[in-house]
Amino acid sequence: MSANSKHATPLTAYRGMLLHFLSDPGEGNDMRAVQFFDDGVLVVEDGRVKSVGPALSVLARLADTVRVIDCAGRLILPGFVDTHIHYPQTDMIASYGNQLLDWLERYTYPAEAAFTDAEHARDVAEFFLDELLRNGTTTAMVFATVHAVSVDVFFRSAAARNLRMIAGKVLMDRNCPEHLRDTPEQGYRESSLLIEKWLNQGRLGYAITPRFAVTSSDAQLELAGQLAREHPDAHIQSHMAEVRAELPRVRELFPASRDYVDVFERFGLMRERAVYAHCIYLSPEEGTRMARLGAAAAVCPTSNLFLGSGLFDFEAARAAGMRVGIGTDVGAGTSFNMLRTLSEAYKIAEMIGHPLSPWRAFYLATLGGARALGLDHRIGNFEPEKEADFVVLRLDSTPLLARRMRTCVTPADKLFALMMLGDDRAVAATYVMGAAAYLAPSEKG
Ligand code: GUN
Ligand code: ZN
Repeated sequence: MSANSKHATPLTAYRGMLLHFLSDPGEGNDMRAVQFFDDGVLVVEDGRVKSVGPALSVLARLADTVRVIDCAGRLILPGFVDTHIHYPQTDMIASYGNQLLDWLERYTYPAEAAFTDAEHARDVAEFFLDELLRNGTTTAMVFATVHAVSVDVFFRSAAARNLRMIAGKVLMDRNCPEHLRDTPEQGYRESSLLIEKWLNQGRLGYAITPRFAVTSSDAQLELAGQLAREHPDAHIQSHMAEVRAELPRVRELFPASRDYVDVFERFGLMRERAVYAHCIYLSPEEGTRMARLGAAAAVCPTSNLFLGSGLFDFEAARAAGMRVGIGTDVGAGTSFNMLRTLSEAYKIAEMIGHPLSPWRAFYLATLGGARALGLDHRIGNFEPEKEADFVVLRLDSTPLLARRMRTCVTPADKLFALMMLGDDRAVAATYVMGAAAYLAPSEKG
């Protein structure tokens, strides 16, 4: 591949194996939801998708002068959407030995305390965004820290890369170290200013971010709900029903709420554009209520295994009609890479007893994530006029993957081998609005 230009050219065609989704293929693998071309082409103009389809028929309609980038033997996919991740936890990923509540005290809060320093925040944000791109992820919903400066710094770095990113200042006013607390009023004021400054600036979105029920008082959630009413365009993000140990704590802290979903629902925080990480310990009725209210779940397989939190039931979530995306949840998650995350999702689904097909898995990592974030009118697949964020994956990135591919017969075989054996080495290139934002060293020659 010879796409080493940093800037989008007016009309460019990327030719290779191509996959994107028009809707959810479901567990029945409804192939009307899937567009897969062995020899396909994605045509991009001015940073947007112009057309997509089988190479021969699409190219026949284009002028001979169109630049064609040869991605033969590679897979062109919409950029991955990571629906839950913490940029300030980059440096403490893979910290040993504790489950959630201890892990927060021992590793997470100390790491986040350093984000009063803009220089440190910038250093981490720059690495974090480059690491996302190196892994083929072009959109993420991101926790910053309680410090407003951590959000400013993050958005500046995201804007410089022209990335579609959503982030927010953490709200937490109790049950965490004193020096990391805000107050309901301070959290409200600082979030309001950040929303004014960043919401819908270019490709950026803002998420109102109460950390989780345990660390916010009623007064703080009340004001978070007020912010949500004042800014219907803003997102909301939090954690919910992640570990068993937090459940009695939440019941004790919110005696007026009938269940976990109700803690957020009562304050107007269960709505469209609200994304709750984990959602493992919800009743079917809570799942249905969440779905009806338009909120989505960010499922974080590597994190749930790493912290020993529990197993998310994809089938129960589908039956409840819940909107679901995939999150890496770095630094409790153990990889920035969506292929590695999907492979753990598959194993969890097997533990529950309903396998996760490769079609559904790649749907969840692209259009499913975009839908969970309410961004599917802009990103997530290759419908004309969508923003041209995409990734080119190698199917021979390791000797084992290359060898396994030789015995794969169907496209589903290939996708499954890729999601089980692939990792960051599979990412040949990542494009943002049609411009090459990352090229693997092997692609630069
Ligand atoms: N619950 C509250 N805060 C966190 C966090 O930082 N990571 C995870 N995984 N769960 C949380
Ligand atoms: Zn998290």
